[in-house]
Amino acid sequence: MLNRRSLLATATAAGLAAPFGREAFAAALTPVAMPAPGLYETNEDAYWAGLRKQFLMPADLVNLNNGTVGSSPRPVLKAVFDSYELTEQMMQDAPEDYPIWGYGPWPEFRKPFADLMGARVDQIAMVRNCTEANSFVGNGFEMKPGDEVLMSDEEHGSGIAPWELRAKRYGIVIKTFAMPKPPKSPDEILNRINDAITPRTKIIFVSHISTNTGVVLPAKQISALARSKGIVSAFDGAHAAGMMKVDLNDIGCDLYTGSMHKWLFAPKGTGFLYLRDDSIINRVWPTTVTHSWDDLTLKAGRYQQFGSSNIPTMMGLNASIALAQSIGIERIEKRHRQMADYLHAEMMKRGAESWTSPDPAMRCGITTVNVPPVSRMELETWLWKNHKIRIRGGEPSKLRLSTPYYLSKADLDRFLEKFDAFRKMKGIA
Ligand SMILES: Cc1ncc(COP(=O)(O)O)c(C=O)c1O
Repeated sequence: MLNRRSLLATATAAGLAAPFGREAFAAALTPVAMPAPGLYETNEDAYWAGLRKQFLMPADLVNLNNGTVGSSPRPVLKAVFDSYELTEQMMQDAPEDYPIWGYGPWPEFRKPFADLMGARVDQIAMVRNCTEANSFVGNGFEMKPGDEVLMSDEEHGSGIAPWELRAKRYGIVIKTFAMPKPPKSPDEILNRINDAITPRTKIIFVSHISTNTGVVLPAKQISALARSKGIVSAFDGAHAAGMMKVDLNDIGCDLYTGSMHKWLFAPKGTGFLYLRDDSIINRVWPTTVTHSWDDLTLKAGRYQQFGSSNIPTMMGLNASIALAQSIGIERIEKRHRQMADYLHAEMMKRGAESWTSPDPAMRCGITTVNVPPVSRMELETWLWKNHKIRIRGGEPSKLRLSTPYYLSKADLDRFLEKFDAFRKMKGIA
């Protein structure tokens, strides 16, 4: 059985170095008090600093790349480890109860997330990540050869690949519209989508928040546009859960996918698929299946009939939701916007080109800027190797900067100072 001692022993025996060494394992298991109630109202900076202590990342690590993967904080790790200790004793009450899920409705794992996201339990299927959910959509949505899926030119590989596979295997057609760079208004995006729709468009599949630019797309208007033309709307919401308040039923889309390991800081291996109602459930075949796959009374639960899966991961997910709820998703979103606005403004002062929308309402926790002639990979490597600052971007000069709520203004200033120093060193500024 995996217990605290054996975790420590494994790490030590393996001679693992920090941050995967003995101290880090021990620290993971030591509870740290949450910020006192009322602290936010009296000292907001101290409140966020208190939350920063829930994360195992060393205090001088500045993580501006939450967009790839989040770090799970202590309450989430504790829930995972405790759940292992409990479930692996194999002492479940009922004779048919084993420490696995993936064969049943498991509302206790779907309800907290459904509540967070403005959905009902029967509209949410828990899956293992956004890639899997996107694959369920791309593989399962009924289409004939020649039918079209309309996507933006900013989709993540995990959004594109399922449709590419489908196109190669079954002859559906991928149509792409170019996102304005940057979009100045929601209408600019809507017009481009509208112009790209053809009589063969069966589904619009776009990100809710662009992984490239951080632009928040007008999901509600896109859904309404699709509906008005009898087209199915699907969103890749990999970045939305935990970054900002999302009300899925208010958006009015047919399908929505995501991962919780990014902005909700849930364990890796947590994702979801939202299906609005029976009409879409009847048009999306499940992909990974075991018995009950064809039981339509399960509603969205039909898509989580995929065999043995990990209970502790789900317990960690519920702890991550409880943490977000205890802070308040509106407060989290406000913080994300404030930090991103600050960073965006500072990068503009430095002559960066904004690839995130200039409209603050169209961005949240991700700021993307183009900073030629800076080489992003050189900068990324230099920042990480020398200054424990993580960023990410794209060639040649795109920087994608995430601002999770636990970062402080001092963290952002440290990045800005090092960015300036790098440019000076390269004779750019
Ligand atoms: C928009 C988008 N979709 C899908 C994914 C894939 O997520 P996962 O690796 O959790 O499946 C990502 C990951 O960065 C993403 O940004």
